[in-house]
Parts: sequence; structure tokens; C-alpha cells
Amino acid sequence: MTEGTTIKPLVAGNWKMNGTTAMVREPRLLAGMMRDVKTKCDILVCPPATLIRRVKGVLKGSRIRVGGQDCHAAASGAHTGDISAEMLKDSGATHVIVGHSERRTNHKETDATVAAKAKAAHRAGIIAIICIGETLDERKGDKTLSVLTSQIKGSIPEGAMASNTVVAYEPVWAIGTGLTPTTAEVAEAHTHIRTELNKAMGEEGGKTRILYGGSVKPSNATELMSAANVNGALVGGASLKAADFIGIIKAYM
Ligand code: PGA
Repeated sequence: MTEGTTIKPLVAGNWKMNGTTAMVREPRLLAGMMRDVKTKCDILVCPPATLIRRVKGVLKGSRIRVGGQDCHAAASGAHTGDISAEMLKDSGATHVIVGHSERRTNHKETDATVAAKAKAAHRAGIIAIICIGETLDERKGDKTLSVLTSQIKGSIPEGAMASNTVVAYEPVWAIGTGLTPTTAEVAEAHTHIRTELNKAMGEEGGKTRILYGGSVKPSNATELMSAANVNGALVGGASLKAADFIGIIKAYM
């Protein structure tokens, strides 16, 4: 059996900075749709922090989990506007995305910042979804695999285990663009990530989920998810509507 195939997949939705109270309708619809779907994956939605508690409320009794999109490295303190992993946990989050390329670019987050945030998630007892991925220039310059290696080395904190860490491979050029790598390119990147995780995390690396993210839609989910070492998806735009998100979840029926 190929390494990683016994891993239970995770399909995670990242709403980004979208959604006010009316949007809670979508996870409510999704929970209803899920009643008739026998999927083999875990499901997570990451709304803006302002909606975590409300979304958690409408998902009561469903197996869909709720997560945050970022956290501060500290547990509390003089950090106006920031939210700690402990606060996310307190509001009902089980996961937090860290190191998304939009944070790395817009907020100048380095690998060291990302590792500190992932460590904070572990300290708080929630799962860190650590995002990595190359830019278009890096891909064109044939640097994809070396960029992934250095991001893994720098962004995965000591003590990371399969139970508290998920890695999301998101080529920056595929995010929100409608462009996706070929299945062979996805397999190459994910297999490289698996090898690097084995080096960084030992046995735990072989059990850690590696999600693919970047323009995942119902129409390409089955194909992308079939690539070697892909253990689920991190979905942006197509996670905003329950009707689209369920189409991706169904890739795991
Ligand atoms: P997208 O975003 O699915 O809209 O491309 C993915 C992400 O940023 O996680």
C-alpha cells in the first residue's frame, strides 16, 4: 500500500474575510445535506473568527468541525486586534490555519512566525494546518521542491505530531486563480512533502495529513484528490456555498 493511503482525509473550507451573520445559513444547509452523505473524510469549516461560535452553534449534532484562520503566537497580552489559539479554542475551534500565503504575503509572516503560531496551536490543544507552497516565479525557476523543503524545515515546530498537525500544499499561483497543477505535479509535490515530513517528524511524518489547496472545485476534486499522498483539500472560494462544498466532500464517498 502506498504510504499515506490509510490516512483519513480532511476536507477543510477557508472562508477568508467573507461572511456576516446571514452566511451561517450555509453551514446549516451543509449539515442538512451531510445527513444523507456517507463520506469517508473529516470536514472542517474555517469562518472569520467573528462567526466561529455561531457556526459551531448551527453545527451542533453534526460531525462538521469549526476552525480559525490565523492565531497569534502568544496566549494573551498587549497585541491589539490579534486572537490567540486559546481564544479560538474557547470559542469552539478545533483547528487553526497558519501560514496561509495571504498571511505570508500581506503580513510578512516568515517561516519562524508560522512555526511559532503552530506551536501556539499545539499549546492550546488545537490542530495546526500549516500552509506551504511555491510562487509562480519559483515554479518557473524549477525551485518548487527546494522551496517546499525549506518551508517544511522552517514552519513545522518541534513536537509536531500527526494528531496535532496538518500540512496544506497550496501553490500560490493556484489560489483563487482557477489554475491548478496537473495531477502529476500535485503527486510530485505531495510525495516530496511526505519524504520531508518523514525526515522532520520521523514516524509521525508518515501519518500526517497533506492537503492540496488552490482552486479546488467539485469538477476537479476527484482528479486532484486521486494524486499520491493527497489526504484531503483546503478549499477557499468553493467552500462558501454548501452546494459547492458538498460536491468536493463527495470526492470521498
Ligand atoms: P481557492 O483558495 O480555493 O479559492 O483557490 C484556496 C485557499 O486559499 O486556501
